[in-house]
Amino acid sequence: MKNTVQTFQKFKDDKKKISMLTAYDYSTAALIEKAGINAILVGDSLGMVVLGHKDTLSVTVEDMIYHSRAVTAAVENTMVVVDLPFMSYQVSAAQAVKNAGRLVKEGHAQTVKLEGGRQVADRIEAITAAGIPVMGHLGLTPQSVNAFGGFKVQGKTLSAAEKLIDDALAVQKAGAFALVLECVPDQLAALITEKLSIPTIGIGAGAATDGQILVYQDMLGIFSDFKAKFVKRYDEIGQRMLADFKKYDSEVKEQIFPSQEHTFKSDPAVMDQLIK
Ligand code: KIV
Ligand code: NA
Repeated sequence: MKNTVQTFQKFKDDKKKISMLTAYDYSTAALIEKAGINAILVGDSLGMVVLGHKDTLSVTVEDMIYHSRAVTAAVENTMVVVDLPFMSYQVSAAQAVKNAGRLVKEGHAQTVKLEGGRQVADRIEAITAAGIPVMGHLGLTPQSVNAFGGFKVQGKTLSAAEKLIDDALAVQKAGAFALVLECVPDQLAALITEKLSIPTIGIGAGAATDGQILVYQDMLGIFSDFKAKFVKRYDEIGQRMLADFKKYDSEVKEQIFPSQEHTFKSDPAVMDQLIK
């Protein structure tokens, strides 16, 4: 079944959970599609887990297009959401529509995501009016890391919680089809989920959100510079990659690899002529 904004809404209405993972390349996206995950986010987290930057701020629209093309090439039924990176929509609604359009035309994105609440409502409205569905993102919005003074849980005080609820309602009113809640205390995320008619997708926002998302390198133990509390490690693939890289290194040096099995045999008649 093809996942669309309509099927996302049906999940919410039927009280069924939505699964999402990030992906940044063809091979990973193909596995996620096979697993039946509802949606892939080509996240600007690629700045950290793929490009090795300390935050997401230097990711460009071109970076997003490059990775979105790879992911969308693998996908048939999985919804693809592509992040608008820092400073690709903050300037104006016109800039937001232009860059969202590039993600669709050049990156083949199905939907786009941007960070923020009431202050970006006019961007959400303008992109939606252009026929491009928008996913919102509130709570810990990594593009504001310098304003927050670090990667921290958001909405902890009464006033911060009230602002988060107001922002969530503004995002919905502006026409967003879904909303990511990142690093939000569980009961506040539950309350927002109850107040909204559109689905919420949580990451570090407890069990009550309508869906969940994780960065796949985090859940598989491939990215291990740090591990957030909300990450469940489903595997330690990084450890297995390390062991296999070491084994390959020693097999090359000890001339165990390649063996006959991995070798193209020369035609002896040709070799006889060649050497003569
Ligand atoms: O870029 C990303 O991976 C994200 C998710 C963490 C929601 O925005
Ligand atoms: Na992101």
